[in-house]
Amino acid sequence: SNDAKANIGVVGMAVMGSNLARNLASREGNTVAIYNRSPEKTHEVAKNHPEANFVASDTIDEFVASLAKPRTAIIMVQAGAGTDAVIEQLKERFEPGDIIVDGGNANFHDTIAREAKIAPTGIHFVGAGISGGEEGALKGPSIMPGGTAESYKTLGPILASIAAVAEGEACVTHVGTDGAGHFVKMIHNGIEYADMELIGEAYDLLRNVAGYTPAQISGLFATWNEGPLNSYLIEITIDILKHVDAETGKPFVDIVTDQAGSKGTGVWTVQTALDLGVPVGGVAEAVFGRAVSSKRAQRDAVRALGIERPTAPRVDDSFVDDVAKALYASKIVAYAQGFDAIIAGAEKYGWNIDKGAVAKIWRGGCIIRAQFLNVLADAYAENPNLNTLLEAPYFAQAIRDGEDAWRRVVITATQAAVPVPGFATALSYFDSLNVDRLPAALVQGQRDFFGAHTYKRVDKPGTFHTLWSGDR
Ligand code: ATR
Repeated sequence: SNDAKANIGVVGMAVMGSNLARNLASREGNTVAIYNRSPEKTHEVAKNHPEANFVASDTIDEFVASLAKPRTAIIMVQAGAGTDAVIEQLKERFEPGDIIVDGGNANFHDTIAREAKIAPTGIHFVGAGISGGEEGALKGPSIMPGGTAESYKTLGPILASIAAVAEGEACVTHVGTDGAGHFVKMIHNGIEYADMELIGEAYDLLRNVAGYTPAQISGLFATWNEGPLNSYLIEITIDILKHVDAETGKPFVDIVTDQAGSKGTGVWTVQTALDLGVPVGGVAEAVFGRAVSSKRAQRDAVRALGIERPTAPRVDDSFVDDVAKALYASKIVAYAQGFDAIIAGAEKYGWNIDKGAVAKIWRGGCIIRAQFLNVLADAYAENPNLNTLLEAPYFAQAIRDGEDAWRRVVITATQAAVPVPGFATALSYFDSLNVDRLPAALVQGQRDFFGAHTYKRVDKPGTFHTLWSGDR
């Protein structure tokens, strides 16, 4: 038996849990208790990492007894039923003031419900988004905790000790109450989907319109990575594009099946945005882009029609710069939409979310980490009430500078039959915001015609309905 000496515990010794536990143990001041349903895994982790000085337990009772008060445990088990089972076990043994953290990829609705159920016991339940995958968990993730402000007094310093550091600041902040952390993590993943789709489209254009090889495109991306497009996703893309398959000697990107999978957070982002009434076309097209790629039978059926693809129009070297600008403008739109969803979510669920702080904790550890997020944080620091990120002076200028190129790229892509759903939806979104009159006026007319849904007039106040029967 143990005598309550660990300041933090981790439940779940699969890859994410054991990496997070090792990260915690490597930081000054932490003593880490570990537990896994199957004790073999706990033994193995303790044995393979003697440097961590883990306080290992075979039973949940021992584990709970090994934690100093307030007891703080991070759950890193399978989302859904696994998480619920462990929450239940801890809830039965924890006391008021103790803290249960769910560090898994939970749906924020579940987190809100779990918190509401646990709150009356006086135990704090914290849903914490943790981004950065296996390596992030081990070396420093971006962490997005929700839950009570009180729990963050204990939890904050512990999480700050293991989080990634960007420009001297730990990539963790108390995002908001109950499900706010998992909500923001979900939006992070949605933006990640959009970013990946846009980079994919840029590659496709350079390859199939401009005719560059994957290795050449890797070089072009390396140049881009020196400028405003600098990001982790561009960095890994540089490596992937120059990677050659050892077996065939072909570019790696040519031997991979072109059917992209997904684990669901992109879908959640779009579903949530639909509920909130926030357009997130960039994320939606990324999710749909993966879905289309996986529809093998439909792709084959249409190709079997033998409808010839047009030959790509000739482009010169300036096309590369055009694509970079189109990518940047589209990326700005994707982030603007993502932050709109955060603002709408905060309003609907009663969270006080500091947008600048969120941008800052995404600068390190997570998949969308990028220089760009400094600018984004500055924009919200300067004006927390931006109607849209697009009106912040830096982003407005980037759109101004890139607009012509953006249009040329979408036109050229269309002529060349290269699909650019991400670039095109971003441009259409910008055009929708930037036009005086939208055809929504006609839609209102249609709604009034068939459903007597009424309309408002531009020239006087009030609600109107036209007696359309005379018009048919
Ligand atoms: P990964 O993807 O990292 O392998 P995962 O599948 O999300 O991890 O989760 C696996 C972890 O959840 C394991 O630690 C597993 O415990 P076992 O090693 O005993 O299988 C844990 N887990 C899953 N369901 C659980 C449950 N009902 N109760 C407790 N732990 C559970």
